[in-house]
Amino acid sequence: MKEKIGNLLKDVKAFNANNIEQLEDFRIKYLSKKGVITALFADFKDVPPEQRKEIGQLINSLKTTIQEKIVTLKEGFENADKTIVKPDLTLPSDSPLGARHPLSIVRNNIIDIFARIGFTVSEGPEIEDDFHNFSALNFPMDHPARDMQDTFFIEKDPDIALRTHTSSVQVRVMENSEPPIRTISPGRVFRNEAISARAHCIFHQVEGLYIDTDVSFVDLKQTLYYFAKELFGKDTKTRFRPSYFPFTEPSAEMDISCNICGGKGCNICKYTGWVEILGCGMVDPNVLNSCNIDSSKYTGFAFGMGIERITMLKYQINDLRLFFENDVRFLEQFKSSI
Ligand code: PHE
Repeated sequence: MKEKIGNLLKDVKAFNANNIEQLEDFRIKYLSKKGVITALFADFKDVPPEQRKEIGQLINSLKTTIQEKIVTLKEGFENADKTIVKPDLTLPSDSPLGARHPLSIVRNNIIDIFARIGFTVSEGPEIEDDFHNFSALNFPMDHPARDMQDTFFIEKDPDIALRTHTSSVQVRVMENSEPPIRTISPGRVFRNEAISARAHCIFHQVEGLYIDTDVSFVDLKQTLYYFAKELFGKDTKTRFRPSYFPFTEPSAEMDISCNICGGKGCNICKYTGWVEILGCGMVDPNVLNSCNIDSSKYTGFAFGMGIERITMLKYQINDLRLFFENDVRFLEQFKSSI
């Protein structure tokens, strides 16, 4: 009898139910009127008196074990029922919507404005060789931009550097295609500059290039007039000031009337009414020749702008470092923009 109870106890302990029906079968098998426990108590009358106390206790403890087992397994099933919540896929999400980064918004705006007049987008590597970043662009060997102070070189190899502008992409486009060329190259660029409210060692540019027969400075001005009015509003005025870049001749910088004070004068435009937004010029014939484009047949113009600067003007942001800190309180303010 003792052995029989021992074996039953082992069975009970080893038992597990996969579902509520299996558990009910288990209950019936052991605890119902015709179940195992009732049968054990029926056999009890044949147990010799001196063993009764011990056997009685064993049967009772078997019964308690069975009851406890049933309670535990049942609780398990009830909790599992609670956690399987079928989601209503038609409900709107309550997780917060992300916002596009202001630099992406403005970059997309710029791409869109130029796409409307036939400019394609080209991209290139961020790690460049000297030829594409400097030599093909007519930088003299002793130009200060080639200095370690201004450019990040890779592992002290003077031939490989992080690109300092996306003009390098345009060299690649010129090498690989025939005019007419109309392209803009947005991308990240790197310069060894101290980080401040107005400068960062990583920033973003959009550079543009247009090459065809008979392209003149008039085409350059007209394209950039259109661009400034599209981006900053139709009342925006523009002016060109002579400047210098190794890869363009003549070169200029374009200012727009300050969109914060409307040209009246404020601290953003340093009370001049004008803010500089880009560099531009006619592509130097040396650059065309370096890229196997016949400079006796073709002319072109190029321009380049920093996306951070344009975004700061457009949204009246006064510290460039905000773009890189990813503070949600800053980013959230651009939710409604495209
Ligand atoms: N590459 C110049 C820069 O990074 C911008 C530029 C492009 C100026 C094309 C003139 C023409 O500052």
